[in-house]
Amino acid sequence: MEQEWRRLAFCRPQIEDLFVNLAAGRVAGRSGRPFTDPATLSSVNTLATLRGLADDLRPEATLEVGLALGASALALAGSLADRGLPAARQHVAIDPFQSTAFDDVGRLTIQRAGLDGFVEVIEEPSALVLPRLVAAGRRFGLVYVDGSHLYENVFVDCYYAVGLLGPGGVLVMDDAPHPHVARVVRFLRRSWRQSLVPLDLWPYRAAGAGARGRLRYRLAEALGKTQIVAFRRTAAALRDEGAARGPV
Ligand SMILES: C[S@@+](CC[C@H](N)C(=O)[O-])C[C@H]1O[C@@H](n2cnc3c(N)ncnc32)[C@H](O)[C@@H]1O
Repeated sequence: MEQEWRRLAFCRPQIEDLFVNLAAGRVAGRSGRPFTDPATLSSVNTLATLRGLADDLRPEATLEVGLALGASALALAGSLADRGLPAARQHVAIDPFQSTAFDDVGRLTIQRAGLDGFVEVIEEPSALVLPRLVAAGRRFGLVYVDGSHLYENVFVDCYYAVGLLGPGGVLVMDDAPHPHVARVVRFLRRSWRQSLVPLDLWPYRAAGAGARGRLRYRLAEALGKTQIVAFRRTAAALRDEGAARGPV
């Protein structure tokens, strides 16, 4: 892990802080409270994939559910900033526990990286925030869902996240093999297949991996064991958007 994070060094030096210093208890929040749990950080592969997707898709705005220590915010907001966009809080990060359980580490990480002008932190449960964003007509080119892992919350997050994507926009879900997340992935694959096409993430993970790595990845994919999955929104309506034709 200590070496692997170097793949992300270009994102911002604060990434090193998180990967190298977390295990040593040297990542601290506003009150000085140390953090040590690596589960609060997306993996290097996931962060490299998010950054690669953001660089390729060139979205005007991005959104994440689950800010935690700010690693995925660095990857996504860093891409917006490095494209030379003017700072307009185009990356929305939702987390109801940022100033409490996370002692503002995510906010501090974003500030230290000079990205605060690109990020809007909303400290409320995603189930309350996302419908408001839909009602306000907001659109995001890339949405990363990595918040609560309870089935009902993942479902609600993805339901609204898809509504926030324009055609061509991408939904990325972390912890796809988690049983609660996997149920939602199955729903999206089966029931929303007109509107959501699975996106191959291998090209974003390929760095340093040979033919064996590719084979392992394809096997994991077939078994539903890849850490993240992604879907691209098509131009087709969601099935309930045709409800004007009658009850479904
Ligand atoms: C695994 S961490 C996110 C890691 C982060 N995306 C990263 O890459 O560093 C999960 C986060 O989801 C947040 N969370 C939990 N329940 C939530 C909810 N109902 N709405 C939004 N975020 C939630 C937690 O506070 C935590 O910060």
